[in-house]
Amino acid sequence: MERTLVADALAVTAPQREITVCGWIRTRRDAREFSFVEVNDGSCLSNIQCIVDAGTPAHAGLGEAATGAAVSVRGELVASPGKGQQWEIRARAVHVFGGADPETFPLQKKRHSDEFLRTIAHLRARTNKYGAAFRVRSEAARAVHDFFHERRFAWVHTPILTGSDCEGAGEMFRVTTLGGPANPAEDFFGRTCNLTVSGQLEAEALALGLGRVYTFGPTFRAENSNTPRHAAEFWMIEPEMAFADLDDIMELGEGLTRHVVDHCLTHCERDLALFDNFVDKGLLERLRGMLRHPFARCSYGEAIDILQDCGREFTYPVAFGVDLQTEHERYLAEEHYQRPVIVYNYPKEIKAFYMRANDDGETVAAMDVLVPRIGELIGGSQREERLDRLEARIAELGQHPEDYWWYLDLRRFGSAPHAGFGLGFERLLMMLTGISNIRDVIPFPRTPGSLEF
Ligand code: 4AD
Ligand code: MG
Repeated sequence: MERTLVADALAVTAPQREITVCGWIRTRRDAREFSFVEVNDGSCLSNIQCIVDAGTPAHAGLGEAATGAAVSVRGELVASPGKGQQWEIRARAVHVFGGADPETFPLQKKRHSDEFLRTIAHLRARTNKYGAAFRVRSEAARAVHDFFHERRFAWVHTPILTGSDCEGAGEMFRVTTLGGPANPAEDFFGRTCNLTVSGQLEAEALALGLGRVYTFGPTFRAENSNTPRHAAEFWMIEPEMAFADLDDIMELGEGLTRHVVDHCLTHCERDLALFDNFVDKGLLERLRGMLRHPFARCSYGEAIDILQDCGREFTYPVAFGVDLQTEHERYLAEEHYQRPVIVYNYPKEIKAFYMRANDDGETVAAMDVLVPRIGELIGGSQREERLDRLEARIAELGQHPEDYWWYLDLRRFGSAPHAGFGLGFERLLMMLTGISNIRDVIPFPRTPGSLEF
């Protein structure tokens, strides 16, 4: 089908004798002599205004088509005498692909609540806010790939069906072909199968061959936490580097975050301006500020001191050894440092088995990147590459080394220092758009009790 995207039509520098746009009617106003029809095709935030003269074949083609109808409009692109747009189409032909009954089409008002729009997730991409959110999502993904490509990381595809529990937290979705209570031995794989909570363990294997790799794919967690920051299905970016340590991944995590911010400020200007105007005033200033100042850094011990001395009453009391809660993470990033902060060297008890033990016997070479309004954006570590230490840690945690045989093999054969992290892509999008609920940055969110679409 011959057509011009609205984004391209609006970017021309001279009138066009004939173009065709296809999209959905956002608004229609009928005057006596003509109808104004605003068409949006999702290629950009802007609509294109079409003038359809009464009594013409084009007007007959338009018929009763109203908000929500899918149409094509062919005509001349001319400078618009009206305010608000530079170009408009004087329609010569209008075709309606599919109408939308004004009595039942749910997107009639200019603004609907986020809660309502979640109940019609199949239609919300046709609103300004969600169109913008999903365009930013796409651009941010491109920026992630560019970043790693420029640094010669290989994009690897780790399995979604897995037999291991990377994070050891047991928050996994079971996959089975059996009805009723499952006996793993009789199941499809002859053993228990879960949806992956992280591609890290496999990424480590690939990094210890390819050198620098990253994953970018869906991840699943059955944690029953109904918060604005947790989804049961989310996308994670997990770089893993051989011959690298904690400092290297702190650099990498900061570099990646800033690169995506920079890219979106340049390539999603209009969409981000919408968020700055209607969703989170001050968003643009905050994003630009992230590029001006380096991220703060402090050890977990220092973070605990800051939180204990700040005079703030937290719901979860603070002491050395506790896991940082969102309220603590936000205090550090939002109020104390007023910018992203990287906290490193956490106590080993609150972190996963694979993190490298520090010489103090107490902490591991872990790091989290905490950002204002969200809290944890990135979690990562240097990995324990010493076979004896890793085996001892697995035993200490009451796990079976046999279950980790291939992971331990990586320490048996050509082990090397290596490090990596996981960045939650939806959390990054919340940071980029100011959208405060994770359900609104992923097209079809999966959260406890919610699987409609
Ligand atoms: O801190 P996490 O659990 O780290 C890992 O899974 C490591 N294996 C990553 C690695 O080192 N390769 O998760 C990493 C990030 C978090 O910082 C957070 O941004 C995001 O993933 N995340 C979630 N995002 C949305 N919903 C959830 N339920 C999430 N759980 C983690
Ligand atoms: Mg974490």
